[in-house]
Amino acid sequence: MAINTVRAMKIDIHQQRPVLGNKLGGLSGPPIFPIAIRCVYDLHKALDVPIIGVGGVATWEDAVEMHLAGASAIQIGTALLDGMHVFEKVKEGVQNYLQEKGYSKVSDIVGLAGRE
Ligand SMILES: Cc1cc2nc3c(=O)[nH]c(=O)nc-3n(C[C@H](O)[C@H](O)[C@H](O)COP(=O)(O)O)c2cc1C
Repeated sequence: MAINTVRAMKIDIHQQRPVLGNKLGGLSGPPIFPIAIRCVYDLHKALDVPIIGVGGVATWEDAVEMHLAGASAIQIGTALLDGMHVFEKVKEGVQNYLQEKGYSKVSDIVGLAGRE
């Protein structure tokens, strides 16, 4: 499974101190998506194991991108703040994409972006 949150920080310019009591926090959601894609892509190239793609997935396009990078499955966390309908929208979008491109299953597109 890749990736977890990315260590990040916010500073209050008026207090001139870190906003979080712990100073650092875990950044999640769309800002970390390109980092997650790069990690999944690299892992898929280096390892012959199924990968669950996590980190900033919010749309069906993101899910397709994760699969193309090498993820066999997708995890969605932060995007659920918009509601549980996200699961259905992502599932439908990926299914439509597969159909339009002439594929029958998700595994047909896993890792395609890394092919020689
Ligand atoms: C509120 C919250 C709680 C989380 N709790 C855990 C946890 O207990 N263990 C863990 O390994 N990752 C935890 N994560 C990280 C998520 O599993 C996930 O790796 C990360 O949020 C990136 O995915 P996302 O952008 O879809 O949220 C948590 C993330 C959030 C936002």
